Amino acid sequence: MNYKYTCLNPIAAVGLNNLDDRYARTEDFASADAVFVRSAKMDEMVPGANLLAVARAGAGVNNIPHAEYAKKGIVVFNTPGANANGVKELVIAAMLLASRDIVGGIEWVKANAADAAINKSAEKAKKAFAGTEIQGKKLGVIGLGAIGQKVANAAVHCKNVEDIYRACDFITIHVPALDSTKGMINAEALAMMKTGVIIVNAARDALVNEPDMLAALESGKVRKYVSDFPNATTAGKKGCIVIPHLGASTEEAEDNCAVMAVKEMRDYLENGNIVNSVNYPACSLGPANKAGRVAICHKNVANMIGQFTSILGNAGVNIDGGGRGPAQEERRRDSRARDQVKEGGGWRHSPTRP
Ligand SMILES: NC(=O)c1ccc[n+]([C@@H]2O[C@H](COP(=O)([O-])OP(=O)(O)OC[C@H]3O[C@@H](n4cnc5c(N)ncnc54)[C@H](O)[C@@H]3O)[C@@H](O)[C@H]2O)c1
Repeated sequence: MNYKYTCLNPIAAVGLNNLDDRYARTEDFASADAVFVRSAKMDEMVPGANLLAVARAGAGVNNIPHAEYAKKGIVVFNTPGANANGVKELVIAAMLLASRDIVGGIEWVKANAADAAINKSAEKAKKAFAGTEIQGKKLGVIGLGAIGQKVANAAVHCKNVEDIYRACDFITIHVPALDSTKGMINAEALAMMKTGVIIVNAARDALVNEPDMLAALESGKVRKYVSDFPNATTAGKKGCIVIPHLGASTEEAEDNCAVMAVKEMRDYLENGNIVNSVNYPACSLGPANKAGRVAICHKNVANMIGQFTSILGNAGVNIDGGGRGPAQEERRRDSRARDQVKEGGGWRHSPTRP
């Protein structure tokens, strides 16, 4: 089986090099069987009839209409954790940048570069950029997933977010942007926090009610707000340190994401396995090492399996239903994989081996 794939954004060569000669690159989205993407917005793009899967080299999938794709049988993958260390390091840098006005200090040096006596005037000016150390301060981490866990080693252990709000000098947010989390850092949450708290947001700007944040910066409740998401509300505002979305911008993170995205795509196209999908249940039976494997994605409604087995039976294909030894072990894994599939109105992926 040969596949055509397209890349909607640059994908690191170290990942694409893992596609062998069964994979041919195309620039035509409409004819692609497989799509690799980073941040390109796919909402308005009409998927072609061939499209089987999309692999997002990164964590967030809000640029992909994955719920719609699920209905069309298109499996969407992401690469959880592959860029987590890149983001963790940016968070640590953000805490340091916010503790002293390092950015303001560097800007002062640039603005005064023509001053022949800058060494002396810096000694007078530097007071304005002084701050505090991070040693001994409490760090609260909201969201203990791939990124949050890496940041959490230095954190206090709190039972819930309210405890974090009340206890911590630094708060860093690592939850996904969901209906339940959007705007969670609002006036009410900010009011619970210690005066002078530093807040780091390398997750998504929608998690913070940014007008409330500006008011808290103005009143001195919040000392600095570091965001990795430039927008018109925060860019250039007093107390905001806004970074141009550099969280995952490291060579290592881009390579890790590309390698993982290609591995997931190949495992699905070649073996029918679904690992790290955001719109289909996990289902993995290891490599397909027999003549072939049929992976069927279908809506979980009555009488579907019967129709598939009739088609296979009419084609003279026997469905292995008994025996001992390796076949039995494969069936056991089959049923375990199917057990992971959510029942009731969802989507099922029923690998069927002729
Ligand atoms: N700045 C960047 O370039 C960059 C790069 C990668 C990921 N991200 C963002 O970072 C965030 C975290 O990514 P991740 O890979 O660690 O995700 P993840 O799915 O591994 O972890 C998210 C965690 O948040 C927890 N969570 C969800 N809702 C919560 C709530 N209301 N309160 C407390 N915890 C809650 C989940 O249980 C999970 O443990 C996401 O918003 C992602 O989009 C940003």
